[in-house]
Amino acid sequence: MLVLDGKTTAARIRTDIQEAITALRQEGKRAPGLVVLLVGDNPASLVYVRNKEAACQEVGMTSRVLRLPADIAQAALESTIAELNADPEVDGILLQLPLPAGLDAQRCLTCIDPTKDVDGFHPENMGRLVQGLPGLRPCTPAGVMELLRQYAIPLAGKHAVVVGRSTIVGKPMALMLLEAHATVTVCHSRTPDLAAITRQGDILVAAVGSPCLIREGMVAEGAVVVDVGINRTAAGLVGDCDYAALCAKVSAITPVPGGVGPMTIAMLLHNTLTAYYQHTGRTEASCCCSSPCTRTASHPRTAGTTTSASFSPTQNPSTGQMA
Ligand SMILES: NC(=O)c1ccc[n+]([C@@H]2O[C@H](COP(=O)([O-])OP(=O)(O)OC[C@H]3O[C@@H](n4cnc5c(N)ncnc54)[C@H](OP(=O)(O)O)[C@@H]3O)[C@@H](O)[C@H]2O)c1
Repeated sequence: MLVLDGKTTAARIRTDIQEAITALRQEGKRAPGLVVLLVGDNPASLVYVRNKEAACQEVGMTSRVLRLPADIAQAALESTIAELNADPEVDGILLQLPLPAGLDAQRCLTCIDPTKDVDGFHPENMGRLVQGLPGLRPCTPAGVMELLRQYAIPLAGKHAVVVGRSTIVGKPMALMLLEAHATVTVCHSRTPDLAAITRQGDILVAAVGSPCLIREGMVAEGAVVVDVGINRTAAGLVGDCDYAALCAKVSAITPVPGGVGPMTIAMLLHNTLTAYYQHTGRTEASCCCSSPCTRTASHPRTAGTTTSASFSPTQNPSTGQMA
C-alpha cells in the first residue's frame, strides 16, 4: 500500500518555486506578490491566512495580508479589490472565505481580475476549466491532480468517483479528472446507496466534511483513495475516510493530515507564480508542475505568454520511496 505523501511532494514543489524566484531576483526582477484579503476575525481563517503568508515568505514571494473590519460595506470591499486589480505589483488576490454575514462573496470573487484570481474561483476561470482552456485552477483539486501525477497514478479509462459537489472542491475535481480521461461519477448528499457507487471507483475522492464517512466496505479492493476532508474532532484532525481500516484494502491513499492540505498551499504558490509570469510577459518561464495553467498557451489578456512544465518526479511510484 502506497501512502500518497502530500507533505513531501508539496515541499519539493515549494523548493522548485523558491529556486525560480531566487533566479528572478538574481536577474533584478521583482518577486511575485500575493495579497490576502481577510475580512473580520474568524479564528479558522486567521490560522489559514497565517499559514499562507508563511508559505509565501518561505519561497520568497511578497505577501501582504489586508485586514478589513467585519462591518465593511460591500461597495468598500469591492473598491479595495479594484485597487488591487490595478496594482502592477500584485499578481495574486485571495479573498479568504467565508465572509462575515451581509457580504456577497460571489460578487466579490467576480470583481477579482481573472488573471489575479489565484484561488481559481472566478466564473471566467471556472468556465475555462469547463471548456478545457488554460486558466488558473482551484488549488485543492489542482493539488490532488498534481499529487496523483507525481505518483504516476493512471487516470485514463479509470472510473473516478468523487463524493462532494462543492464549487471549490467536488465540481472542479470532477472536471479535472474528466480532462484526464477518467470516467467520472459525482455523488452528494442526495445520492442513494452511496456505498454501491463508491465501491465502483478505481479512484475515490472524498470531499465531504464528514469524519470517517468512507468505511472499509465502501471501497474497492486496490482502489486509490484521496481524502480531501479536514475534520476537527476530539481525537484530532481526521479526514472523510477511515484511514486505518482502508489501508488494508486500497492500493494507495492520502493521509490526513499530510495529504491534500499541503498540496493546496503549494498550488496557491504555483498559481501566484503562474500569474506573475503572465503579468510580466515571460515566455521562457518554467514552473514546478503540470497544472494546465502552465502547460498551455496564454490567457487572452496576456497574449504572447507561454509557459512550460519542467518538474519531473523524483519518487518511485511503485515503492513510494523518495529518490
Ligand atoms: N485539504 C484541503 O486543502 C481542503 C480544501 C478545501 C476543503 N477541504 C475539506 O474538504 C471537505 C469538503 O469541503 P467543501 O468545501 O467541498 O464542503 P461543502 O461545501 O460543505 O460540500 C460538501 C459536499 O459533500 C456532500 N455531502 C454531505 N454529506 C454527504 C453524505 N453523507 N454523502 C454524500 N455526500 C455528502 C454535500 O452534498 P450536497 O451538495 O448535496 O449538500 C456537498 O456537495 C471539508 O472537510 C473541508 O474542510 C479541504
